Amino acid sequence: MKQTKHIKLKRNKITVGKCKLEINNKREAWLEEVLIYKKFRGLGYSKYLLRKAILLMKRMKILTIYLHVKHDNYIAIKSYKKIGFEITRKNYDKNKLFGYTMKLSLNKFVPF
Ligand SMILES: CC(C)(COP(=O)(O)OP(=O)(O)OC[C@H]1O[C@@H](n2cnc3c(N)ncnc32)[C@H](O)[C@@H]1OP(=O)(O)O)[C@@H](O)C(=O)NCCC(=O)NCCS
Repeated sequence: MKQTKHIKLKRNKITVGKCKLEINNKREAWLEEVLIYKKFRGLGYSKYLLRKAILLMKRMKILTIYLHVKHDNYIAIKSYKKIGFEITRKNYDKNKLFGYTMKLSLNKFVPF
């Protein structure tokens, strides 16, 4: 059975960003639709949004989080790497690099 969790990050009662997790029955989750709203970008909120998602997954005994990101989304890739995600696969479309699959093992995540 699949389960979906929606996460919102709020600051001073205002929603600054959101994301979604699709959980499968193999104790894995796919992180999707990571978004910090435009006027709140570049302020360092991404790590708090990601942390919130990761801590919820830890509480739910999820072992691994995966995500897809386009290869040229440098800011997103940087945010994911900083929090501990690693590239596990390069995805090609008609022989052209399109994006990456990234993975975070939750036993490696050090809460901050
Ligand atoms: C990707 C996204 C979630 C990042 O959120 P954010 O809160 O703006 O990012 P942060 O402020 O935490 O910045 C993350 C890193 O990128 C850098 N960065 C942020 N904006 C930047 C910019 N415009 N130019 C260069 N570097 C930038 C930051 O300096 C930071 O690096 P540092 O930790 O070494 O200082 C946000 O830009 C977004 O919602 N983008 C549109 C949707 C999207 O692409 N989602 C990802 C789908 S996979």
